[in-house]
Amino acid sequence: MTDWAEKNRSHFDEQASTYNSKFRNSIEQITRAIQERLDFIGVDWVDPSSSSEDEAAASSSKAASPKEKSIRLLDYACGTGMISRALAPYITQSIGIDISSSMVEEYNSSASNQGLSASEMRAFVGDLLSPIPSPSLSPPEFHDFDIAAVGLGFHHFTDPRLAALRLAERLKKGGVLFIVDFLPHEHVHGHAAHTVVHMGFEEKDIRTWFEEAGVGAGFRYEVLGKGMVVMHDGREQKRSLFMARGTKM
Ligand SMILES: C[S@@+](CC[C@H](N)C(=O)[O-])C[C@H]1O[C@@H](n2cnc3c(N)ncnc32)[C@H](O)[C@@H]1O
Repeated sequence: MTDWAEKNRSHFDEQASTYNSKFRNSIEQITRAIQERLDFIGVDWVDPSSSSEDEAAASSSKAASPKEKSIRLLDYACGTGMISRALAPYITQSIGIDISSSMVEEYNSSASNQGLSASEMRAFVGDLLSPIPSPSLSPPEFHDFDIAAVGLGFHHFTDPRLAALRLAERLKKGGVLFIVDFLPHEHVHGHAAHTVVHMGFEEKDIRTWFEEAGVGAGFRYEVLGKGMVVMHDGREQKRSLFMARGTKM
């Protein structure tokens, strides 16, 4: 594990139990922004209204089975599961991966509190960005995703270019890489400063990394209107957020 990865692991292990309450406003704001941009992300989503109709039809006629549609999400650096929960109505399975076991525990208890089974939403401890990705992430269930997403994770990664590549490898052809992160900003202060490798990103870098990773098709990038205020040790810092997406060809 690199120094940065280890710093992130121990920091987020400590922060996991208070993460959702501390960042409640930001999580709600980003969740709304994601749900308003399903077309922008451009996955062939499951229609949330049709799945309950299918279930009703299936239970009234034993012979008719619902049309099986599978949309699988890889939520990398999943934390407590913001992205998985935002997209849950529109997908059939989410698999979270995070370097912090305490974040993974939070993710999994939130999934079971929502009544979701392990096959619908489950997170695992692992690191796809180490020189040799965690061997526990080799089985087929960790491949061929329809969408790989990273929420506020790229600025914690030593090598975002490698992150785009490793995530692209986990997508099926036609799958989408989707990220949410910060535009360039001032230096981070406070207790999380030692976990932040990049003070935001420029569009041109994101576009280049997506292209180099083979997920540059249909690249789209949007700056989210209002920005966000983050608190670090009692200091307010204003940040602007972007979303980016690209398709694997
Ligand atoms: C700011 S949190 C974001 C969590 C979540 N995606 C969200 O949007 O709420 C950053 C997360 O990245 C994870 N992380 C940092 N470096 C990582 C790495 N190399 N591999 C996997 N996860 C990592 C941390 O443990 C932490 O859960």
